[in-house]
Amino acid sequence: MSQPLPKSETQRLLWNLYRGSWGLQGRVWDEQPGPWRDSLQYVVGALLERRVKPDEWVLDAGCGTGNYAIALAKEEFSVIGTDFATGMLTKARQKTPEDLAGRVTFKRADLNTPLEFDDARFDHLISISVLQAVADPFFILSEFHRVLKPGGTLLLSLPRPNDGSRSFGELVRYRLCHLKRRTACESLLVVVKACGDRFYDNPSWTAQQARYALASAGFEVLAVGEGQQIIVVAEKVHSNWDDPGRCNGSY
Ligand SMILES: C[S@@+](CC[C@H](N)C(=O)[O-])C[C@H]1O[C@@H](n2cnc3c(N)ncnc32)[C@H](O)[C@@H]1O
Repeated sequence: MSQPLPKSETQRLLWNLYRGSWGLQGRVWDEQPGPWRDSLQYVVGALLERRVKPDEWVLDAGCGTGNYAIALAKEEFSVIGTDFATGMLTKARQKTPEDLAGRVTFKRADLNTPLEFDDARFDHLISISVLQAVADPFFILSEFHRVLKPGGTLLLSLPRPNDGSRSFGELVRYRLCHLKRRTACESLLVVVKACGDRFYDNPSWTAQQARYALASAGFEVLAVGEGQQIIVVAEKVHSNWDDPGRCNGSY
């Protein structure tokens, strides 16, 4: 897994623009084509398969406009969605049907800082297309491990390297086509996001790197799907630092 911390001044500027733009991206996020549309059913299905009782708790870390959180609440999971972008959270709250208000809540939280939740709080944790945007993926994986129950499910979607099949101009035109209101503000948001995606050195993962990172963080990988993104389903098995088997060399 490559480390996304910005190194030069230019990289730092791009990093800050990229981070800053998320607050506004909520205005256009749901109109953009994206991998989330393809993986929504898969993610819900995977958690339903892992569910052993009703009302299990899910954390959706980096929930954006709440598409996954709301879909899981409809399946009677109890869900907390967190994101650091208030624009995304506002959209998520507006979209939540009234009858689901007791099942899903949205909170502001920055994944570059420790999570506010107690140890072993959640049965499942999903984080879809988010790890490329955090400063230290290994730190947040250790936090995901902490807040999950033993045997809990971690489901991550990770970006693959850009295949370069579309030029920057084509990418912008393609995304603009999907906007319902093509105002100057909405169009600018699309261009800024495309710049971030294409020119900022976003980290990407191979399936092997994802497996290694998760094993190091105390998860057993159960399944890896490789489509537009890499989707990994894993289970919390132990922590590297307090597992007696590891200390006495039995691994
Ligand atoms: C590509 S979007 C994915 C949103 C949602 N998971 C989905 O698939 O529709 C990435 C999300 O991560 C959030 N994000 C990025 N960095 C974050 C951070 N440090 N802490 C919390 N959320 C963050 C962004 O605000 C954005 O909503």
